[in-house]
Amino acid sequence: MSPSVPTGDPREGPVLVVDFGAQYAQLIARRVREAHVYSEIVPHTATAAELAVRRPAGIILSGGPKSVNEVPAPSIDPAVYDLGVPILGICYGAQLLALQLGGEVSRTGRGEYGRTPLTVTGTSPIFSDWPETAEVWMSHGDAITRAPEGFVATASCPDAPVAALHDPDRGIFGVQFHPEVVHTEHGRDLLERFLYDICHCPPSWTHTSIIENQVAAVRAQVGTSPVLCALSGGVDSAVAAALVHKAIGEQLTCVYVDTGLMRANESEQVEDTFRRQFHIDLVHVKAADRFFEALAGVTDPEQKRKIIGELFIRIFEEVARDLVVEKGHLDEDAPEDEPAGYLVQGTLYPDVIESGSGTAATIKSHHNVGGLPEDLAFDLVEPLRLLFKDEVRAVGEELGLPHEIVWRQPFPGPGLAVRIVGEVTPERAEILRAADAIVVEEVRKAGLYRDLWQSFAVLPAVRTVGVMGDGRTYAYPIVIRAVTSDDAMTADWARLPYDLLERLSSRIINEVEGVNRVALDITSKPPGTIEWE
Ligand code: XMP
Repeated sequence: MSPSVPTGDPREGPVLVVDFGAQYAQLIARRVREAHVYSEIVPHTATAAELAVRRPAGIILSGGPKSVNEVPAPSIDPAVYDLGVPILGICYGAQLLALQLGGEVSRTGRGEYGRTPLTVTGTSPIFSDWPETAEVWMSHGDAITRAPEGFVATASCPDAPVAALHDPDRGIFGVQFHPEVVHTEHGRDLLERFLYDICHCPPSWTHTSIIENQVAAVRAQVGTSPVLCALSGGVDSAVAAALVHKAIGEQLTCVYVDTGLMRANESEQVEDTFRRQFHIDLVHVKAADRFFEALAGVTDPEQKRKIIGELFIRIFEEVARDLVVEKGHLDEDAPEDEPAGYLVQGTLYPDVIESGSGTAATIKSHHNVGGLPEDLAFDLVEPLRLLFKDEVRAVGEELGLPHEIVWRQPFPGPGLAVRIVGEVTPERAEILRAADAIVVEEVRKAGLYRDLWQSFAVLPAVRTVGVMGDGRTYAYPIVIRAVTSDDAMTADWARLPYDLLERLSSRIINEVEGVNRVALDITSKPPGTIEWE
């Protein structure tokens, strides 16, 4: 079937996903990209003219938390329907376009939440891969009760008489269900038909093309200037560094500060990967003594974070100053507003959307080296700012980074310091690191590492009584913390198998001197946080 779509200039711009204030927009944008089509999220307050200058290949109106009949309910400039750009409304987006174009949306009664059978009742190019009935995922209280003029209803559900509709002349489609969630059978097919057949998007957003585009962008941005990157051992800074290195080679210097609060083998792995595998100019600062000295006697969590953050910046500043002077880019005759060089920051797309700026993000935590003095004013290079986390990982793999780095669970900037409840000492850090390594090793062996958002050990600095062999012991407990989560905003404690817990308990007590008890944290977030401090 040849779909009836607006004709005119081929549009090479992104598919724009309009955000109506719920989590759906990000998931839709990710699904579009999984179909290898570049997508971006835009606020619903953008005008039609603002959307038009992006030359979008298509526009998707996402779901939202409200009812379209509420006052005020988030809306969209109705002129978007006249842009001649194909539009797909999903859930709230479908109701909104139905209402704005003259149809009717009412509260019909029960609403539908969860899996619902859908029957395809008409011919529509977005359903070309669908059987007559399929299970779809619904989440709506209102329903479209009358399609606008020019539209045909193409599917129905028990509580949604118009579960899908489209206007063949204008290429405007609406579906009441959520094709972006995995519980909707053929959801991916529907999105692909919209993207490929209606919007005529080529499937060209691939990991190789992302790398090629970013390599070109970084080269164009930095010219011949020196570029610095603080490596943390985490996935974002690692991928950013590897990408920038591919673009500018020796112009890049990476700085890795070993605070003494890193996970087991983290420092060796950074050395191995960046110096030996990638031949990146790496400055490895072994600063554990300075950090332990600064943390002596400190028990307050916020105080610990502040001390670590500030010391990190000072050390980074020392290294940066030496390097910039050495590479000759901080000469005294340089104009005052000229940057000393560039600083790589691993900002991801969700941070960009959250800040709502769409422009360069400001430097964030100490992790990203904020707080540098003015004469070391770096401009930012953010090669990951268009990418979601899963894309960052895929790019990392494509660039040849080891799996252990690419799939590493998140780790807080202040490191083990916020997992030692009480004063941080070298002895406690050593005990915690050894226990943590066992947790990671056993969780990996059980095949659960990637399923868990985080799994680690915590050391509350209290001592409890135990008995080992003939003797009484008086030693630290280790708490195992393992959570599942999508975004760290909420988390559930992980139901680890008993045999795994048994291995963890016996290995930690037998192998880590100074520990005589193992406990399990069974607190979700909220009310707990993931970290203990
Ligand atoms: P909480 O403990 O607040 O943690 O539930 C949410 C996520 O953030 C990480 N986290 C940090 N990351 N600096 C960081 O870079 C920090 O000070 C910090 N504190 C918590 C934590 O590991 C979890 O993934």
